[in-house]
Amino acid sequence: MIETDVLVLGSGIAGLSFALKASRYASVSVVTKKERAESNTNYAQGGIACVLSETDSVESHVQDTLRAGDGLCDEAVVREIVREGPDRVKELLELGVKFSRMDNGSFHLGREGGHSHRRVIHAEDLTGRAVEEALLRAIASNKNITVYEDRIAVNLVVGWKENKCYGAYILDKEAGRIVPYSAKVTVLATGGVGCVYLYTTNPDIATGDGVAMAYRAGAKIANMEFIQFHPTMLYHPLANSFLISEAVRGEGAVLIDKRGNPFMDEYHELKSLAPRDVVARAIDNEMKKHGDECVYLDCCPNTTHKPLGFMRNRFPNICEKCLSVGIDMDRDPLPVVPAAHYSCGGVKTNLLGESSIHNLLAIGEVACTGLHGANRLASNSLLEALVVGHNAAGKAREILGEEKEFRAIEPWNPGNAKDSDEAVVVVHNQKEIRHLMWDYVGIVRSDKRLSRAKRRIANLNEEIRQYYWDFILTSELVELRNIATVAEIIVDSAMSRKESRGLHYSLDYPSKSDQYLKDTIVERPWLR
Ligand code: FAD
Ligand code: SIN
Repeated sequence: MIETDVLVLGSGIAGLSFALKASRYASVSVVTKKERAESNTNYAQGGIACVLSETDSVESHVQDTLRAGDGLCDEAVVREIVREGPDRVKELLELGVKFSRMDNGSFHLGREGGHSHRRVIHAEDLTGRAVEEALLRAIASNKNITVYEDRIAVNLVVGWKENKCYGAYILDKEAGRIVPYSAKVTVLATGGVGCVYLYTTNPDIATGDGVAMAYRAGAKIANMEFIQFHPTMLYHPLANSFLISEAVRGEGAVLIDKRGNPFMDEYHELKSLAPRDVVARAIDNEMKKHGDECVYLDCCPNTTHKPLGFMRNRFPNICEKCLSVGIDMDRDPLPVVPAAHYSCGGVKTNLLGESSIHNLLAIGEVACTGLHGANRLASNSLLEALVVGHNAAGKAREILGEEKEFRAIEPWNPGNAKDSDEAVVVVHNQKEIRHLMWDYVGIVRSDKRLSRAKRRIANLNEEIRQYYWDFILTSELVELRNIATVAEIIVDSAMSRKESRGLHYSLDYPSKSDQYLKDTIVERPWLR
């Protein structure tokens, strides 16, 4: 057994920024399931929404966030997170993040959908990588932090009577052993759920492990029907899950169909820069209407009214990726499709990251603080991870003041599990779930499609449960079980919202209803 004051699961912006702060007064173990930089954070392009310009205001950022959230944001949470943003960004500067600046030295602020001001601070189009690298650099020289790579958390350890978390069981992937980690504070920073869907902008790590573990442990899970689909993932066989940042549209690029028609004019007054849910639904509609495989993003100087070479300077990473598959942004329209991108729901927490289980905190994309409501405003998630990570470090300190002893955790009991001789079952079931979530629980939903998905996922879940107990655990099996659990939670949440609001659009209930002006809460049935 490993003992650590604080156990952090995940090494993206939430886990690492929290760990740095908690290390000032505690021993911290960061467990991460692949190489330490591999995270959604590492791929973030657009940047961090933050009020830094004199012509902008906290109130304006608050109002834009509330408008995107479509009635379901917690206004107090929104105000606090937006207000704290500049201080947290300042800390990133102190850690050496080089945000892009203009010739006069002031920050270059990007524009994205739903924002009424330019307010997205960025490091070219590689903001996430710049932040991740700075945090990892700071952690490398910190004696109180140990990072364990290639270890995947399997289950949380919870005392049911006292409703308290004591750590987690962690699978060491190389050694094939499951080791108990005993902790006074456990922090879920496991990121998103994009891989529950066939097409996603997320890397392979985003299998919803934190939400699934918290659900099994009895925590409250909120608003999982609100899955954000990013309108523009590059559609090319060699461009695996590559995002074309919304900031490209912020600089004047226009969505067109294959006939060259700028179709967004028919859908919203903000045209290609309309809120993400509107754009994703419009693209879905156009593709279905014409039977097209994709739409296109026109970034040519004639359309953007920017000088030749502007895109190359502003988006060097995107330009390079496009060129690598034979597309020149200055000349060729980019083929794009929508893809699952961000989970607005998650483990229900407050502003301090506290979940409904004592000593279990959740921060970053895995959590649902109330900031995003029914739809996240672009670039508000890195901001949220920084602010709540900071607050949670204060909460963890308080908990450590009360918890004096480590709880002894029983060794993992493998029962009669034996080596699986049919790995194909895991691969097949994962594909099946991701396909059916895309087809039946995607951008546009209906009662019939949701019921169909519910029946199939229930069957698959039963099969996976059996498989889980019969065979020795592998990380693939752990992830499959979590994907199936999260898929079921998304379907249940979507079925219970009989209206269309924010990211949840139902053909059977196309309008909003005040009756549903509340969070959807899901809990494990036998604990209710
Ligand atoms: P992550 O950064 O995803 O980190 C999760 C960590 O948990 C990883 O280290 C992972 O390996 C680990 N992990 C997961 N499960 C386990 C387990 N069972 N055991 C151990 N470790 C585990 N947001 C913005 O605000 N601005 C942007 O410009 C922006 N651009 C984006 C572009 C892309 C392509 C994507 C995919 C997302 C973007 N987002 C953006 C969203 C944003 O990047 C994420 O919401 C944010 O980075 C999440 O940070 P996190 O620390 O919560 O999780
Ligand atoms: C993007 O750059 O378009 C992604 C921004 C975000 O998801 O917040």
